[in-house]
Amino acid sequence: MEMDTRVFPDLDALSRGALEELLHALRDAVRQRGRFAIALSGGRTPAKLYALWAHAEEHGVSTPWNRVHLFWGDERYVPHDDLLSNYRMAREALIAHVPIPAANVHPMPTDRSGPEKAAEAYESELRAFFGSEPPAFDVQLLGLGVEGHIASLFPNSPALEEKRRWVAAVEAPAQPPRRLTLTPAVLSQGRNTLFLVAGADKREIIQALAAEPASKPSQYPAGRIRPAGRVLWFLDRAAAGTDAS
Ligand code: 6PG
Repeated sequence: MEMDTRVFPDLDALSRGALEELLHALRDAVRQRGRFAIALSGGRTPAKLYALWAHAEEHGVSTPWNRVHLFWGDERYVPHDDLLSNYRMAREALIAHVPIPAANVHPMPTDRSGPEKAAEAYESELRAFFGSEPPAFDVQLLGLGVEGHIASLFPNSPALEEKRRWVAAVEAPAQPPRRLTLTPAVLSQGRNTLFLVAGADKREIIQALAAEPASKPSQYPAGRIRPAGRVLWFLDRAAAGTDAS
């Protein structure tokens, strides 16, 4: 498949590049629509980007936090203070350090009677914010699993076929298995999709995605979602396969 890639020497440079792109999209969105809605990703890779954003003000780059709305692309169904919580990671790296109004932070709930109920509740929250049409996030950050998963859409997951529901409760072949994820109904709308992919363990899946013919449906969730807007791949050299090793 066609991949519009930006390759950086390391995670730090990659995160700086992605932050620049994110802030560019933010300015556009605020100018055009008066607000900026972003779907954050979990995993380890975005922590550096969140930390850079949290401290951007100290480097003269200001964010109109009252215009920013933070959502999540996926969440592990664990309490928000659990070490595995994606919300917790973003809170510690970003939210705790910036003056964003509490009402602008929209974590996926993990305190309902079960993941199904939580998925319904989050869809209602999205509908209350965006309206009845599937939302186009101004930015959706996505990581990439070694087997090609994005958000918590893993290969062969029935949620990959979901056209109607916006949020699904899934059983993932990963720890922890109980998760919530945005579905293709939403992820295929994104105005700017920024993939953040770092580390040599991602090289093989990057090569496999790049080698897939555009004419056939992809074998991988990362290739199955075709967002309507811009899609940029931020890679470090290790993931891109252009480092010295
Ligand atoms: C999650 C994710 C997931 C993640 C990838 C990459 O909650 O696990 O959002 O899709 O982005 O697994 O994770 P790393 O950045 O840790 O490699």
